[in-house]
Amino acid sequence: MSEIDFVKRDFCGGNRNFKCVGRILERRISRGADMADVQNAASYPTSVASGGTSDLKARLIAAAEFLKSPNTVGSSFPASHWLIDRMLHGVDWSQVTTMLEYGPGTGAFTSAILAHLRPHARLIAIDTSPSFTDHLASAIPDRRLHVITGSATDAQQYMADLGLSQADCIISGLPFSTLEPAIATQIIDRSVQLLSPDGLFMAYQMRKAVRPLLEQRFSSVHAAYEWRNIPPCHLFWASKPNK
Ligand SMILES: C[S@@+](CC[C@H](N)C(=O)[O-])C[C@H]1O[C@@H](n2cnc3c(N)ncnc32)[C@H](O)[C@@H]1O
Repeated sequence: MSEIDFVKRDFCGGNRNFKCVGRILERRISRGADMADVQNAASYPTSVASGGTSDLKARLIAAAEFLKSPNTVGSSFPASHWLIDRMLHGVDWSQVTTMLEYGPGTGAFTSAILAHLRPHARLIAIDTSPSFTDHLASAIPDRRLHVITGSATDAQQYMADLGLSQADCIISGLPFSTLEPAIATQIIDRSVQLLSPDGLFMAYQMRKAVRPLLEQRFSSVHAAYEWRNIPPCHLFWASKPNK
């Protein structure tokens, strides 16, 4: 299978075969399979799966998670540095003490955020998949990072457990177009409550499903499109939450 075929499948969503391959991949990752073994299992393209050991492991975990649950994971490819740089470019890091990340996946954004965050700031990264959160917690040992297995809908509770009540910045990698509409609305409504009045909500996703939700709840919404990512992504920056 060519890389393009793989990407097409990635965009089109999963079927039973995907889920089966996902489970095979997951078992092989946990047994410490070698590259050839795993490539045979999923015909995962060599050019996509190149890189160091932990990078490779992250990509295999992402492929397995996507194949098991395509609607929840959205894409099996990590965010590109173009997407990350563009999304984070406008953040005033001197104003960020508490940051939330929804759907960190394999942590491409997480690492970049930590590179910017001040020494006493905190990043709370929430993902529903234990495979991603286990990987993140072991791959990024940073005392500013709190990795939580759970849903973004419960962000307020997780913040309270850490003695926190407000976030200066929230970034979302959630696939809003495939989330249950009630869940998507709840996540944005609760984020508005959590954000400080000068806070910033950022989202990147394949489709524009999150845009109307943001426009109803924030006075300022800016959008952009980044082609240099697999898949290409819409970017949104929302500020001035209507409390
Ligand atoms: C497109 S992926 C993010 C990929 C990530 N940017 C990367 O570079 O690896 C979306 C992530 O959202 C997570 N997710 C989906 N629904 C969620 C929810 N309700 N709360 C938290 N995370 C969720 C998925 O498990 C997945 O890791």
